[in-house]
Amino acid sequence: MTSEQIREKFLEFFEKKGHKIVPSSSLIPDDPSVLLTTAGMQQFKRYYTAELDATADFGSQRTVSAQKCFRTSDIEETGDKTHLTFFEMLGNFSFGPVGSDNPEDFKTSGYFKRSSIFWSYEFITEILGIGVDRITVSVFKGDDATPFDEESYNIWHKELGIPKDKIILGSRVDNFWGPTGDEGPCGPCTEIYVDGVEIWNNVFNEYYKEKNGGFVKTENPGVDTGMGLERLTAMMQGVDDVFGTDIFQPLVAKVRESVSSEHDRVVRILADHLRASIFLIGDGIRPSNKEAGYILRRLLRRIMAYQIKYDIHADLFPESVEIIKNKFGKTYPELNETKKILEVLEDEKQKFQEAVGRGMKEIEKFKEIGGKEAFYLYETFGLPFELIKELAPKEAIENLYKEDFDKEFEKHQEISRSGAEKKFGGHGLLLDTGELKAGSEEEMKKVIRFHTATHLLQWALREVLGKDVRQMGSDINPERMRFDFSFSRKMTSEEIKKAEDLVNEKIKENLPVHFKEMLKNEAEKIGALSFFKAKYPETVKVYFIGPISPMGFLSAEFCGGPHVNWTSEIGKFKITKEEASSAGIRRIRATVL
Ligand code: SER
Repeated sequence: MTSEQIREKFLEFFEKKGHKIVPSSSLIPDDPSVLLTTAGMQQFKRYYTAELDATADFGSQRTVSAQKCFRTSDIEETGDKTHLTFFEMLGNFSFGPVGSDNPEDFKTSGYFKRSSIFWSYEFITEILGIGVDRITVSVFKGDDATPFDEESYNIWHKELGIPKDKIILGSRVDNFWGPTGDEGPCGPCTEIYVDGVEIWNNVFNEYYKEKNGGFVKTENPGVDTGMGLERLTAMMQGVDDVFGTDIFQPLVAKVRESVSSEHDRVVRILADHLRASIFLIGDGIRPSNKEAGYILRRLLRRIMAYQIKYDIHADLFPESVEIIKNKFGKTYPELNETKKILEVLEDEKQKFQEAVGRGMKEIEKFKEIGGKEAFYLYETFGLPFELIKELAPKEAIENLYKEDFDKEFEKHQEISRSGAEKKFGGHGLLLDTGELKAGSEEEMKKVIRFHTATHLLQWALREVLGKDVRQMGSDINPERMRFDFSFSRKMTSEEIKKAEDLVNEKIKENLPVHFKEMLKNEAEKIGALSFFKAKYPETVKVYFIGPISPMGFLSAEFCGGPHVNWTSEIGKFKITKEEASSAGIRRIRATVL
């Protein structure tokens, strides 16, 4: 059976039992408790709590879906035969009230443990044709907070005849699911194993976990089941490796063309990360330094780093995008936007390939890498900690611990802060670009926000108007900022809006702001912007916004500071006016809210 057939049969089977087939929701969840969609039930959360009415929206209290899911916790686990970051979850759902299972009652009545377990059993044994003797199950054994799920136990044992020794009594860790986030629907679950491999989880949402930790019985108990398509397909196709199924076959074959056969692990990591990244981009996620965007960036950096480490010269992106479209485009139409997806991949590649490449050369120079060295590699080349661990020779990282790296990170933050405080001491403060006056701590905080905003604005203007734009002066007071720059004509209102939006985007991404003491010529070499009128000493302070890498930093300026630590501290940025200042020089007035 192909994976397409399995997906189809699952949806059909439950459709016949009164379920409405609902398309997968986006990987960007509307549930703020998670960064990415991790389970099929998330798009239905508000139907369990009866905030929304399923009969009104779906014509049924039952739904079925194949849901795109992503589990961050598995990024570092990939490489073996079963772990995936992105996967598809087949699931059937019931929101209740529990009614009869006569077809004429399907529209308005949900179901609970009995129907759910019976149907799982029917699907596995009759539709998939798996022998009963291959099945074992687990049931929640109960604890102080919620009791033994005796009902499920009896259904398996007394009604379906599963022998006692094939029913495992599991604890909360394995047999109680949810909620996603701090609160929400949750309940005991019963898992189904075939040949010892877990394939299906039936969750019975009979509780609502409150923020304070208490479990409250829900009025209408719900059902939420989940079965990983990849694992199920592996089982049906008689392979023990999800990468050996038809799901991955074309992509794995492509990657294999350029990776030598002893590196199976690398082939799997690349196949997983390529597929996952393409799905993430398809749903509108873009690489950034924050949240979901950062997850995507991590995957892409890992791909590129492996390519460098294992000398894989093949251009994997264009062909992968085609392969994924051909395999999944029918089910997930957003994957047909190949041009757009490829553009995002290529753009990110350009940004990081050289940086990662240089960073890797640098790694090889170290005999031993501890927290300090790892932080240096992170700061200078944008290599994330985990990647350093992955790429460095084993001998070099014997004494490398995450805590040491974190300590370095914090220390660095403190240095940035104390730099600011020293300058802060008196009244008023001198910036490299002009005099900044403030009468109180409060006012000082405001002008510091403006100060970082000028750096972002200079970056944004250069993005919108071109790299000839340079800062010619600035004047800041607690009410507003003025920013003068070289440009020969009036900006259009679109350009103004675009610059403003770019600044706000970077504020939202909450990028770190940090400085480095550098030799003047080195700072110039990496492209840090200086203020042309000023005379600088041999050693200068360069302020960066965002992580540093030779190709990839966002903004770097010669500057004495002080600045905010994180861009989100700036608040909302608003351009209030654009006007002429003098010949060839424009002036922007702006404020922060
Ligand atoms: N929510 C459960 C899971 O993710 C069942 O769908 O395993």
